[in-house]
Amino acid sequence: MKSQKVLTVCLGNICRSPAAQGIIESLSAKSKSVFLELDSAGTAAYHIGSPPDSRSIAALKQVGIHIDQQKARQVSKADFDEFDWILAMDRENLANLKKIQPKHSRATLVLFGEFHPSVAFGEVVDPYYGGESGFIEMRQHLTNIAQAFVNHLTLKREDSVSR
Ligand code: 4NP
Repeated sequence: MKSQKVLTVCLGNICRSPAAQGIIESLSAKSKSVFLELDSAGTAAYHIGSPPDSRSIAALKQVGIHIDQQKARQVSKADFDEFDWILAMDRENLANLKKIQPKHSRATLVLFGEFHPSVAFGEVVDPYYGGESGFIEMRQHLTNIAQAFVNHLTLKREDSVSR
């Protein structure tokens, strides 16, 4: 079965979006019906080429997810034709992505938190300037949304198969 390509996007591509990539990869690897190829990027160029923040790496390592091999990059217009889904971590990321989104491009651009039924899940708060506990909260928040996202794709697939 054809896989879908998913790009997670935050500001710096060192805290939230690499973590989101690792968590979605881990959840989709357990799914028998959803096949995903993941990447992540930042709207800003500050950290191009850097590995994820050590606090993100540590928070995910605690749950057996390894993201230390990732390298930060900046999102580009070409990504809108390369990916099926572009998932923005907060509203500012979403607004910046809309500014560069070419007309009639392939990707569905959404606020990642919208996949979760609770409105409180709307934005994934930037943990960069806070302490380590913020990274654990980020991991839990991302895990809840990622599960809702994978469930959404599973239901869509079951719907298309039963038609
Ligand atoms: P991220 O967090 O967008 O989740 O990767 C940030 C990382 C770096 C900076 C801001 C946010 N920065 O200003 O360098």
